[in-house]
Amino acid sequence: MKVRKIMVIGAGQMGAGIAQVCARAGYEIVLYDINPDNLKSGLNGIEKNLARQVEKKRLSTEDRVSIMAKIKGSPALHDAADVDMVIEAVVENMNVKRDIFSQLDELVQDHTILASNTSSLPITEIAAATDRPENVIGMHFMNPVPVMKLVEIIRGLATSDEVYKKVEEVAKAIGKVPVEVNDFPGFVSNRILMPMINEAIYTLYEGVATKEAIDEVIKLGMNHPMGPIELADFIGLDTCLFVMETLHEGFGDDKYRPCPLLRKYVKAGWLGRKTGRGFYLYS
Ligand code: CAA
Ligand code: NAD
Repeated sequence: MKVRKIMVIGAGQMGAGIAQVCARAGYEIVLYDINPDNLKSGLNGIEKNLARQVEKKRLSTEDRVSIMAKIKGSPALHDAADVDMVIEAVVENMNVKRDIFSQLDELVQDHTILASNTSSLPITEIAAATDRPENVIGMHFMNPVPVMKLVEIIRGLATSDEVYKKVEEVAKAIGKVPVEVNDFPGFVSNRILMPMINEAIYTLYEGVATKEAIDEVIKLGMNHPMGPIELADFIGLDTCLFVMETLHEGFGDDKYRPCPLLRKYVKAGWLGRKTGRGFYLYS
């Protein structure tokens, strides 16, 4: 069966971006978040992003209106009952994700694909919370979703070829480039990126240089669009810490130990851009 209707769970920075790009490609979207304020701000963010595209003459006003009409905000997971695919993008926590997948298992149709946008958590373990592990898959978008081309597609141990192919088709239909990877902690992207970010935070912690200097070295010296400290704030320090913990636990290797300074910032609630303060301050 063709994918026509998608529920996106979590209207934070990733979920809102995923809803936007899928609606723009013509899919009907249900955007659900447990927190009504976050749902509202997710929908507002999509509206603003599309308005910017209209200003830049990359989108007509009629198309903006028709894209927004394809996205319905929802306060209830039960609205997943008639969708063909779910893309989950809630907090990077195994218990929360497993709870959502086990509820979805009771709610959705037999053919519905259950995808997770997890940054690092094992797809096989999320799938084991359902009685249909063959329909569960990782679909890992990059931030900001409307800009970044990559989608890592992660096969769990039981993911079927049919489900893999359909997810690959969806990724292509929304203008992304799918790359297949196997189910290991952090997959490819965050196994390589996150230890670099963690090491940059250690460099700051040990007083080797200021945060500005560390970012300048990597931006000007390696031609990265953002320095690693700035990028950590952009991703969300809670997400960075969760990913490092998954790598540390998953490989049992101390080279992945999260920097104590990262832990301290997360404990303080300084989560980066999304809370107005991380390593940098945001107005
Ligand atoms: N949503 C939508 N569009 C956005 C955006 C957002 N949040 N932020 C920027 N853009 C768009 C802008 O509208 C602009 O579009 P046009 O060129 O069409 O006008 C374009 O991106 C460039 O933006 P700016 O000129 O404002 O700023 P910039 O040139 O500094 O680019 C950036 C911003 C694209 C974010 C760039 O700094 C960048 O690529 N940074 C690195 C991002 C990155 O590494 N992402 C991966 C993070 S890791 C991850 O996602 C995986 C994980 O699991 C943690
Ligand atoms: P975020 O904090 O911006 O948003 C998470 C949203 O999930 C919030 O709006 C929250 O209210 C909602 N939520 C939490 N628990 C929920 C539940 N039980 N049911 C429904 N909604 C719930 O986080 P984010 O940065 O969008 O990250 C979301 C997921 O995407 C995480 O798994 C993260 O690892 C992954 N991811 C993040 C990035 C990034 O750069 N931030 C990139 C790729 C993947």
